Amino acid sequence: MTMSDEQLLSSDTESSDDQPAPTPGTDGLTDSTDIDTGERSATERTLLEARDLSVYYGKEQALDSVDIEIPEKQVTAVIGPSGCGKSTFLRSINRMNDLVDAAHVDGELVFDGKNVYDDDVDPVALRRKIGMVFQKPNPFPKSIRDNVAYGLRVQGKDDGDVDEKVHTALERAALLDEVEAQLDSSGLDLSGGQQQRLCIARAIAPDPDVILMDEPASALDPVATSKIEDLIEELAEEYTVVIVTHNMQQAARISDKTAVFLTGGELVEFDDTDKIFENPEHDRVEDYITGKFG
Ligand SMILES: Nc1ncnc2c1ncn2[C@@H]1O[C@H](COP(=O)(O)OP(=O)(O)OP(=O)(O)O)[C@@H](O)[C@H]1O
Ligand SMILES: [Mg+2]
Repeated sequence: MTMSDEQLLSSDTESSDDQPAPTPGTDGLTDSTDIDTGERSATERTLLEARDLSVYYGKEQALDSVDIEIPEKQVTAVIGPSGCGKSTFLRSINRMNDLVDAAHVDGELVFDGKNVYDDDVDPVALRRKIGMVFQKPNPFPKSIRDNVAYGLRVQGKDDGDVDEKVHTALERAALLDEVEAQLDSSGLDLSGGQQQRLCIARAIAPDPDVILMDEPASALDPVATSKIEDLIEELAEEYTVVIVTHNMQQAARISDKTAVFLTGGELVEFDDTDKIFENPEHDRVEDYITGKFG
């Protein structure tokens, strides 16, 4: 039996309730004070790096010796045909694969200079630094306010200014104007696109460094999709965004870098998005992005 990502998220959040929140090994390393020039390409510092990263489910290999350096405060798109390991790669970044019994990881995933697979890293704390948004919007059956406050409460930040933080997160998620008058109504009563922005607000409320998104707009209509795309570009001013998408135009529109995985979990090419879409090095990549397969 395999667990869906939504189940993984809820099992994570369940367990985080009854665990104290020890400081992760990565804490304290993450507050670097790069001068933000307002130009995304100006900060090319690597925030996430996979080194010879392989993931197996039982004997089946889903990622094959991936090496990649993901820059801070940019949008990195992950594309490739179904089953090539995109979701597996994303989940390896914040150790969501830990929750899959059969999963086994080799190699390193370095976040801000620290291998997240080191023994002293607490995965629950790590997931607050590296938040995740899934394909299907999955608000909790709670009020809009409580959905966003959830991330703050589990990490013990419920120190009185929760309301302000809820407002800030909703504003950053470009949802505040639409819901300000109804913060106590259920998150489930929102439209699909609003629910997805609510999930983004929930992910950014604890002020993470990285937001992982696994096909966040694929269940949405074109208008809602375009709102999410605009939002992702804005989020990259403050956060490092890694997004899996099946939509080539979307990858080309919103990302700075693109990673192309092909069958067998191999990272075939990683480069500036313009280069990947205009003049890729590998014929297999060209065939994939021009729709010859996949
Ligand atoms: N929980 C799991 N248990 C066993 N095998 C899995 C599990 N999750 C993924 N796999 C296998 O690992 C491989 C990569 O899967 P993954 O979900 O990462 O692909 P993907 O690129 O995200 O595909 P899609 O585009 O369809 O979402 C596939 O062969 C898949 O069957
Ligand atoms: Mg997937």
